[in-house]
Amino acid sequence: MTDELNKTRRYLEQHHGGDGHRAAERTIDTHERNHDNDFWSFWYAHTPSGNALHIADLGCGPALFLKQLAQKHPDYRLTGIEIAPYMLARVEDQPANLEIRIADLNAPGPAFFDSAPLDACLANMLIHELYQPINLFQALRHWLKPGGVLILTDMVRQPVVNFLHHKFPDLDFAHDPADAPTMHECFRDYFEHNRYSAEDIEQLLKLCGFDVIERQTLREGRATRIAARNAAHPT
Ligand SMILES: C[S@@+](CC[C@H](N)C(=O)[O-])C[C@H]1O[C@@H](n2cnc3c(N)ncnc32)[C@H](O)[C@@H]1O
Repeated sequence: MTDELNKTRRYLEQHHGGDGHRAAERTIDTHERNHDNDFWSFWYAHTPSGNALHIADLGCGPALFLKQLAQKHPDYRLTGIEIAPYMLARVEDQPANLEIRIADLNAPGPAFFDSAPLDACLANMLIHELYQPINLFQALRHWLKPGGVLILTDMVRQPVVNFLHHKFPDLDFAHDPADAPTMHECFRDYFEHNRYSAEDIEQLLKLCGFDVIERQTLREGRATRIAARNAAHPT
């Protein structure tokens, strides 16, 4: 394990609330909501159809999405990329066509895959957990085939006051003294989960050479879903 990988693991455990096993449990509990019928319609509307496709899930967690895909498409080749040991520990009953690779998606490098193998990939609730998404977007332009598609879903920026009301529904900030360590933790959490607006993510994808095909607003504006195509390979 490199120092960099361990540093990211420590950062993520804190980001996940200091209890990785609980975070993995939560990821499993919210899987259905994050991959509901609307999600699947969006996925099939924008990703290529065909046999023997190669699909990757970036930050795959316990790999529930890939296991669903494996059931629907036993002929697909599936790759899950993940770094957190507590997520990897929850990858159970791994299908034969699913490979799990351990890597830090903050700076994965174009050579992570031999050529341009991917027909499509998913980044569900990953981007806000990266230090920055530029290196991943650049790598994806090499990993995806020309015409290959990235489906990205993530939380987006909301007003800090809404966040505070949601976290502390019973606290009257005008009269009740706020506990300092609780506020420190709350604002750390806010900034880590509210890095980008939906427009920021769209513009960053375009900056890195993707064509954005569709952007949807989810959860009353608190999340976004984007389909972006790799039009042609960078030289
Ligand atoms: C919010 S969870 C979502 C998991 C899964 N995509 C899902 O929707 O159920 C984000 C996942 O991305 C992983 N992740 C975050 N940063 C990563 C990095 N730098 N490299 C690899 N995986 C990362 C986390 O460990 C976690 O499993």
